[in-house]
Amino acid sequence: MKMDVLLGLQWGDEGKGKVVDYLAPDYEMVARFQGGPNAGHTLEFDGIKHVLHQIPSGIFRSNIKNIIGNGVVLDPVVLRKEIEALKKFNINFRQNLAISKKATIILPTHKLLDAAYEKSKGDKKIGSTLKGIGPTYQDKIGRMALRVGDMLAPDFEEKYKELVKRHQSILDYYQYSLKNLPALEEDFFEAVAFFKSLQLVETEFEVNAAIKSGKRVLAEGAQGALLDIDFGSYPFVTSSSTMTAGACTGLGVPPSSIGEVFGIFKAYCTRVGSGPFPTELFDADGEKMRREGNEFGSTTGRARRCGWLDIPALKYSIMINGVTQLFMMKADVLNNFEVIKVCTGYELPDGAVTDQLALSGTSQELRPVFQELKGWNCSLDSVQKYDDFPKPLKDYVEYLEGLLEVPIKMVSVGPDRKKTILK
Ligand code: GDP
Ligand code: IMO
Ligand code: MG
Repeated sequence: MKMDVLLGLQWGDEGKGKVVDYLAPDYEMVARFQGGPNAGHTLEFDGIKHVLHQIPSGIFRSNIKNIIGNGVVLDPVVLRKEIEALKKFNINFRQNLAISKKATIILPTHKLLDAAYEKSKGDKKIGSTLKGIGPTYQDKIGRMALRVGDMLAPDFEEKYKELVKRHQSILDYYQYSLKNLPALEEDFFEAVAFFKSLQLVETEFEVNAAIKSGKRVLAEGAQGALLDIDFGSYPFVTSSSTMTAGACTGLGVPPSSIGEVFGIFKAYCTRVGSGPFPTELFDADGEKMRREGNEFGSTTGRARRCGWLDIPALKYSIMINGVTQLFMMKADVLNNFEVIKVCTGYELPDGAVTDQLALSGTSQELRPVFQELKGWNCSLDSVQKYDDFPKPLKDYVEYLEGLLEVPIKMVSVGPDRKKTILK
């Protein structure tokens, strides 16, 4: 058996949570491999909406084992709150959730450092979610972070104090106030005590054993390809490897065990936070996408920037991830557009047109070249199957498949689990 991987191909919030939840009945294990509480994955079913930050999106199915892998940076306080918020669903967390002892812990001071770094950058700030992601990965790579397994050792508090002392000297340099630290530390140590009641193991053994014994495993990505630390619009990115390769290092699974790679994209584009976004709209169309798509962040509530679909960017994401199937999300958000535009290339300052993505600090100057398509301009409420789609929507899907050279196997037409159309 192989492990399938599900990834966002844009700047995050493509609808990964919804799709993992939809696909979950086909799987016996769902595993997060990177990111942390910066993620907000929304699931809607039975009239209820859930937003998960660190818990994998398979948690609502009692026969699925959920894994938080070594590649994740984990905030114990946030995890405890998430678990408590789900109490009424009678989920057996002790049995259905396993956390890697090698996952890195986010300390209260990592969150303060995140805020201090952002403040010091002024108008060049990344627009971080301020969950402590960057500073925690920095300590991981700098080989001084604390890991989940450390919580079980008798000298945990000592190690904690040592690391916090380093952080304090940096915070002093930035003249960042530490007045909130005692309250944050109280919550932190309560959460650490709670953590010990959970299943803390070497999850690489669990995941590989599941694959070997023929169980179906789905790796759930967070963020998106264009936020990847190496290939995203650096420095306006997150601090982890958001790609297929990240699923290998973030779970301890060999590349030879990767099966299908599901690439999720919206029928348009959004981005929350700073950084280049060549097809961004500042007009009534952008406003309409934000309104119809309810484009406000699941983690921070910030308004998402909106724009037309960017084909060079999608092609790039497909290339670096080896995507084998595409899922197009939020088609219904474009229901009331007479014309739909698609960016097929960028005009460079010398007038030449390229379809190769080059998201660097200067890419704001790239002029997108748009192709116009006829909108379907009607509701998709009554649609039950692909054949029910209005012709312009079918044309849109088939036009994109032609450009992207990967089949679009699913189209999502609403936030609910049921609003999912297979092609
Ligand atoms: P994720 O981070 O990739 O899991 O995505 P988010 O949950 O942050 O954002 C996606 C948002 O779009 C959520 O509010 C979902 O409920 C919603 N959503 C998902 N699919 C659809 C869809 O097909 N149509 C509409 N209108 N909303 C959708
Ligand atoms: P999901 O998994 C959208 C963005 C932030 C910021 C940049 C760096 O829900 O798709 P960080 O806190 O990681 O240091 O922020 O990345 N960002 C996301 N945008 N969806 C996410 O996750 C994101 N996680 C981080 O807005 O621009
Ligand atoms: Mg999200």
